Amino acid sequence: MAKLIEPLVVVVPAAGVGKRMQSHRPKQYLSLHNSTILEHTVNRLLAHPSIDKVIIALSSSDEYYQDTSLMNHPKVQTVVGGVERVDSVLAGIQAIDAQQYPWVLVHDAARPCVPLKDISTLITLCHESDQGGLLAAPVRDTMKRTDDKNNVLTTVDRSALWHALTPQMFKVDELRTAIETALHNGIDITDESSAMEYAQLPSQVVEGSSDNIKITRADDLTLAAFILTKQQEAVCE
Ligand code: CTP
Ligand code: MG
Repeated sequence: MAKLIEPLVVVVPAAGVGKRMQSHRPKQYLSLHNSTILEHTVNRLLAHPSIDKVIIALSSSDEYYQDTSLMNHPKVQTVVGGVERVDSVLAGIQAIDAQQYPWVLVHDAARPCVPLKDISTLITLCHESDQGGLLAAPVRDTMKRTDDKNNVLTTVDRSALWHALTPQMFKVDELRTAIETALHNGIDITDESSAMEYAQLPSQVVEGSSDNIKITRADDLTLAAFILTKQQEAVCE
């Protein structure tokens, strides 16, 4: 378990519409093991001993949050998110008092299966190195680069390729400035690490579990339910 350090805050972007899920409501409000995906994610984060507070970015047209058990939770605050994920993350970061919380974790609402052990590893490594980082999973398949007609050009060395997951953990002031600068310059920011890259600030990859899937398409809901059951069984053993 991680050496416990000062309390941490997590920003949870949850303002997306879940277009690829093609469901009747935003995917973070779909039911998984009798509660919403968002409730699973936030309750899991709050179960970590280092996590003191969660700031959730919600859509300005959100109709579902008020019916969740997170409403009026003393450790949960909400902000209004934006058009893109990065806008929602920035709204959350701007609500943080960096004196009180010098570091922030950002974690997708759509990743309810993140193991607490992986969060601990990320926190410990970032503190020990005094450098931000992200959970990531090594690429397993042989990777191909193609031309615009899908003809293979080369096989890419996969030993240096990773799937970027969340949480991602950075110093609040550095991440806020990096995102604001990138947005101001019209740069496409898909995760926090890409904002740090643009600012030429370091971020390190920390290997995490393949359990930490992002629920994106309908099939992923079945897989997430399976992973949650497996994790519960492991706790009971
Ligand atoms: N997100 C957000 N604000 C947005 C877009 C996305 O807070 N404007 C959040 C989503 O709610 C999700 C996380 O960012 O928790 C990761 O995004 P993704 O998995 O792409 O979710 P959606 O954008 O909702 O899904 P899709 O891309 O299929 O529409
Ligand atoms: Mg999206």
